[in-house]
Amino acid sequence: MSEHEQNMPKEGGVDHTLDLLNEGYYFILNRKNKFDSRVLETRLLGEKAICLVGKQEAELFYNEDYFTRVEAAPNRVKKTLLGEGGVQGLDGEEHRHRKAMFMNLMTKDSLDEISRLTREEWDHAIEANTQEELNVYDEAKRVLTRVALRWTGVPFKDEDVDQWASELGDMFEKASKVGPKHWKSRRSRSKVEDWIEDLIKDVRDDAIQVEQSRALYVFSNHRDLEGKFLDKHVAAVEIINLLRPIVAIAVFIDFVALSIQQFPEEAKKLKAGSAEDLQNYTQEVRRYFPFFPAAIARVKKNFTWQGYDFKENTLTLLDLYGTNQDPDLWHFPDNFTPKRFKEWQGSPFDFIPQGGGEFDIGHRCAGEWITIEIMKETLDYFINQISYKFPQQDLSYSMNDIPALPKSRVKIKHVEKIK
Ligand code: HEM
Repeated sequence: MSEHEQNMPKEGGVDHTLDLLNEGYYFILNRKNKFDSRVLETRLLGEKAICLVGKQEAELFYNEDYFTRVEAAPNRVKKTLLGEGGVQGLDGEEHRHRKAMFMNLMTKDSLDEISRLTREEWDHAIEANTQEELNVYDEAKRVLTRVALRWTGVPFKDEDVDQWASELGDMFEKASKVGPKHWKSRRSRSKVEDWIEDLIKDVRDDAIQVEQSRALYVFSNHRDLEGKFLDKHVAAVEIINLLRPIVAIAVFIDFVALSIQQFPEEAKKLKAGSAEDLQNYTQEVRRYFPFFPAAIARVKKNFTWQGYDFKENTLTLLDLYGTNQDPDLWHFPDNFTPKRFKEWQGSPFDFIPQGGGEFDIGHRCAGEWITIEIMKETLDYFINQISYKFPQQDLSYSMNDIPALPKSRVKIKHVEKIK
């Protein structure tokens, strides 16, 4: 061993998958603190796993010379959250080509449209509400399901929205669970995949008319690097890669509502606040509250980094939540301080709630801009467009549930549009 080489801190024991389920968002942070190291080794799902936390570590993780996504995601995650054959599991040219199919949808006009749809659907939901109390999470799922279906051009009937919301929800709400919930998540994915595959066939056969700018049309007619249509199943997985995460923004919206209850002084500043204030507050919600715990890859080839040996094919997790909470990167990370984003330098590696690195050449979330737009629109709506009260409820959330959500899902009462 040369003088710079060092042994990676290693957790003993046969397997720590159960600890991961028990410790949830704190799994990697607990080990980072125990070993006082941002790089460490443990065992998960029956194999060796390297865990990384921090900005430099994120930069390493997103270097595609060193890490691959091919066969990186565990099978149970593919069967529920991600699907099989989608952009998440591609590398190199194939990934770039497929990713461009997503990023080409993210134009200024299209983001403006999604904001408009979000406002329209919140109006629609609030006007139709007849209950004294409104469950923000459930309502946001319905609102976002309608936004997602309209934005992608997937035809739907009003009476089917609850079912769409529930099945798309199962894919991210139950993906990390075991037993019956896991199986429910798989069944919901299969059902939605079948439904979308039929639609893709109809679009290709000209049996239904869809606007040519809509994702359903674009993905149905997308050609791969060899000039062929995507396999129908893969095209369906990619359409669901738009629908499912748009509905999942309901998790962040529930945290937006919780933040308004918990930090009224910060929320008050948004009354007649600027667009920049809304943006900074939204960013702080995405930094402060837990959502997506870690990104997953495999070591592409043997290499040494900071003296540590990385062996080809080793499963590697980058702690997204831990990096957003890193006291070396964020001053008093436990404080909810939207104005910290005034000074943020915009690095693609320190603020990574939806992954890091580049959009086009890397695996950073294709829907990050959409997420921010929908959250800003909803935040403004909840601050400046409606009035309501928070009833007594259990707003605590558990850090070992993934995704974490307030127990009561945040209820509001006496909801009225401000005239
Ligand atoms: C709800 C909030 C969201 C969260 C927390 C989130 C989080 C993430 C994360 C952590 C990744 C993986 C990054 C990596 O592997 O390095 C990712 C990838 C992805 N996300 Fe999101 N996302 C969200 C919303 C969205 C939305 C709204 C869309 C689409 C409309 C979307 C589409 C995608 C796609 C297509 C990928 C794969 C990118 C690739 O592999 O190149 N996500 N997201």
